[in-house]
Amino acid sequence: MRLLVTGMLVLLSFPALADEKPRAPGRAAPAAKEPARDDALGRPDYLSDLARQILRRRMERHGRDMLHLMSGVVLLRRDVVRTLAQELAKEPRITRPLPDSRDELNAALPERFFVLQDELRERAKGLDEAAKNGNDAALAESFGRLTQTCVSCHSAFLAPKTTEK
Ligand code: HEC
Repeated sequence: MRLLVTGMLVLLSFPALADEKPRAPGRAAPAAKEPARDDALGRPDYLSDLARQILRRRMERHGRDMLHLMSGVVLLRRDVVRTLAQELAKEPRITRPLPDSRDELNAALPERFFVLQDELRERAKGLDEAAKNGNDAALAESFGRLTQTCVSCHSAFLAPKTTEK
């Protein structure tokens, strides 16, 4: 699973590279600062240890599903894609905290997390739909859109952990 995450992080670094402007000759390199990020992917944020622990199991499953989903899409195994996409879409969501809630996990998560969680569900449904309709272009595109959501959420919440190492 680490491999998948590393792969995603490698992908993430491309927009940052593209943003780099050519430097005028003779000028010193700018001092190293925070790694550049594509704004569309949001800023990194920190999650509590509790939130991460609870999320980890769910994410390990996502990682496994994703590999099967990818080969399903690439090899046009629409029934495999449909099953996995439906599972992703049906997954119980972590609910937003109620105003007087004492639920520590929910309260520990920022709003953006919930937005991306909803987006994941919508895009999994889109992928299922594309597989159902037998439209291969839509299949490829909707898989790409689903993957974008994984990357967006990791970009916002996973980055602090990977920079620790
Ligand atoms: C709503 C936010 C969110 C979405 C959407 C999301 N993830 Fe994650 N994911 C996380 C967070 C937060 C972690 C870090 C958990 C931790 O600290 O271990 C994580 C970690 C992971 C890990 C690493 C688990 C490990 O072994 O430590 C994998 C694999 C993973 N995600 C796969 C996926 C895939 C595949 C998708 C898309 C289908 C996805 N995730 C979508 C938030 C998200």
